[in-house]
Amino acid sequence: MSPERVVVTGGAGFLGSHVCDALLREGAQVVCVDSFRTGSRENVPDGVTVVAADVTRPLDLLGPVDLVLHLACPASPADYLRMPVDTLRTGGFGTYHALDLARRKGARVVVASTSEVYGDPEEHPQRESYWGHVNPIGPRSVYDEAKRFGEAMTVAFRAEHGVDAGIVRIFNTYGPRMRAHDGRMIPTFLRQALAGEPLTVHGDGLQTRSLCYVDDLVRGLLAMARSDHPGPINLGNPDEVTVLDVAHRSIEVTGSASEIRHVESMVDDPRRRRPDIALAQEVLGWQPRVPLEEGLRSFVREFAG
Ligand SMILES: NC(=O)c1ccc[n+]([C@@H]2O[C@H](COP(=O)([O-])OP(=O)(O)OC[C@H]3O[C@@H](n4cnc5c(N)ncnc54)[C@H](O)[C@@H]3O)[C@@H](O)[C@H]2O)c1
Repeated sequence: MSPERVVVTGGAGFLGSHVCDALLREGAQVVCVDSFRTGSRENVPDGVTVVAADVTRPLDLLGPVDLVLHLACPASPADYLRMPVDTLRTGGFGTYHALDLARRKGARVVVASTSEVYGDPEEHPQRESYWGHVNPIGPRSVYDEAKRFGEAMTVAFRAEHGVDAGIVRIFNTYGPRMRAHDGRMIPTFLRQALAGEPLTVHGDGLQTRSLCYVDDLVRGLLAMARSDHPGPINLGNPDEVTVLDVAHRSIEVTGSASEIRHVESMVDDPRRRRPDIALAQEVLGWQPRVPLEEGLRSFVREFAG
């Protein structure tokens, strides 16, 4: 039997490159489709076939495809606020083309959605049945609504074309290969702590996040790929911590003398975030294993060089 052939869109990004690593370890043939808008070639492991392409255009790939993992999309607020129209195009047209590739090849496809579809949630923790509380015209809407549209498109492809498509809603994930300046909380804190600069905490810092280490997330994503479940399924770490707490732990693991500086709150920043992962536990037998402290230490080892 020939090895499984997997297309990873966004395979040059943070999550996508770790997915490529895991697939190679499993013996799959991996094709990374990426425009390198926020990712880089150095992230892509040796042995992966790289196709430089923008998913907002039709994806024409020769040969069989068994599985499509659709991760291409700017994910850091700093990135999607810098390219709002492009983010909507990627979440919309890009998801359409990834689904259409799976339709033509008869492949399973898993679409990466996000906890941001829940917006600033009124239900806590968030279950998959919660419809969300999203500001459709706020600055973050380009990402949130693109992902909501992508979910609707996925459901429509399943209904109309019988595509074996599934949705995962990924909660904040961190780890090696996040860019030091990508604007997300953990790389920002670690960069600031290692440089001895003040750690910038938005607002009072009592807003909460649930942070999943990348290895755990990839395991969950691949479990979803191997299932035939339509989702959406939450993937994230239910251990809820305040932003202030993450800042203190970042100082601790880096052995830094940095202080904390409170800066202006971000517009539409969610107050609370915690996944209910009962569904992932039940249908995928998945749950995260890496505690925050341990994940931060692994990340720091890479970050500090
Ligand atoms: N990391 C997280 O905490 C998190 C949380 C929720 C959801 N997600 C989702 O997971 C996926 C990956 O996120 P990430 O953190 O690795 O982000 P990332 O920015 O590191 O990676 C995204 C990748 O997609 C590529 N890309 C962007 N637009 C493209 C386009 N139009 N055509 C082709 N390639 C394109 C980028 O070049 C990059 O390599 C995204 O879909 C994101 O929405 C991530």
